[in-house]
Amino acid sequence: MKKTILVTGGTGYIGSHTVVELQQAGYETIIIDNLSNSNIEVLDGIEKITGIRPEFVRLDINDKEGLRDVLKSRTGIGGIIHFAASKAVGESVHKPLLYYRNNIVTLLNLLDLMPEAGIEAFVFSSSCTVYGQPDSLPVTEDAPVLPALSPYGNTKQIAEEIIRDCIHAGLPFKSIILRYFNPIGAHPSAETGELPNGIPQNLVPFVTQTAMGIRPELSVFGNDYNTVDGSCIRDYINVTDLAKAHVTAVNRMLENKSREKLEIFNLGTGRGVSVLELINAFETGTGVKVPYKIVSRREGDIEKVWANPERANKVLGWTAKETLEDTLASAWKWQKRLRERGIQ
Ligand code: NAD
Ligand code: WQD
Repeated sequence: MKKTILVTGGTGYIGSHTVVELQQAGYETIIIDNLSNSNIEVLDGIEKITGIRPEFVRLDINDKEGLRDVLKSRTGIGGIIHFAASKAVGESVHKPLLYYRNNIVTLLNLLDLMPEAGIEAFVFSSSCTVYGQPDSLPVTEDAPVLPALSPYGNTKQIAEEIIRDCIHAGLPFKSIILRYFNPIGAHPSAETGELPNGIPQNLVPFVTQTAMGIRPELSVFGNDYNTVDGSCIRDYINVTDLAKAHVTAVNRMLENKSREKLEIFNLGTGRGVSVLELINAFETGTGVKVPYKIVSRREGDIEKVWANPERANKVLGWTAKETLEDTLASAWKWQKRLRERGIQ
């Protein structure tokens, strides 16, 4: 029987899709989430897809004693996938301490308690934000980590260093750090997806809300960048593809497929897509128009970044499979489902 995987932030956007994939791969899961950026109905969506309701513990991971109690009361936890974090880049600039506490103290608590709980594998959600604007593209994992542009980005850099130092010190676990590019889309069933809080800061939820008429128009932040059409370029990765990479990472550590105690992988498609290309792909794939206007650049935006995902392809045996069009169609299907449910 497969071991149990503890998923922090498991009712969140990427966490919920990962719980689905873990269950479908035969893992039992326990979610810990404080519901600060998600809601409990997410469990219904997961259950609709897989037929299994994941065990759920409502807990703030800053509560170390509470966390210790959860870990003590469970046996057979083989690994942790740590998604729980605050992730709004703009907010982090105004509330740095909230971000350092929620993204760093939670990590410290987990790493501290893993040895006494006998948990041997740790997957960490990092971000392509650690690369800043890379000198050469596509960016590999060996590219330098550049000074962070926000406290949020800094928490990812610091977290990576903390994990590296723990492994270097010989703490008794392995870790895989996954650097996500831009996760988008929803489960093809539209039972799970992204639920942005308030006005979306990320492109795709803004696109789908505009297509739905919730927002009058999308602002495209700049068309004077040095790119094909002047708009910024990103590597948009399907969230279900991304979720599957976590299962592969957990398998790799639990099945001792690597001699390395710490590995880092880029999770992207390897394809750079501009903002205007994405809008066009959405309109072509769904037949729905997205009214937009060009506005000035957004402060702190990187001009262009996309992944070299070869290490994940070769070493993890994971490749992003979904097309941009299908992924955008899944985001649209999810937006329509939210409307049916009277949510947005
Ligand atoms: P999300 O906000 O949807 O999910 C995070 C979950 O963690 C939420 O359900 C929230 O309630 C929970 N949480 C936050 N703080 C907690 C705490 N102290 N205790 C318990 N639960 C807590 O975010 P997401 O998009 O699913 O991102 C997951 C992870 O991936 C984060 O670490 C994020 O920084 C990272 N990441 C996300 C993106 C992206 O674009 N979505 C890109 C790169 C990296
Ligand atoms: C994508 C592109 C915008 C909204 C952020 C974080 C990063 C990572 C992923 C966690 C950019 C443009 C956007 C809009 C637009 N998160 N855009 N109009 O900025 O690449 O990355 O999320 O780790 O750390 O910074 O993603 O979706 O905000 O923007 O034109 O209304 O869309 O300028 O070029 P970004 P995004």
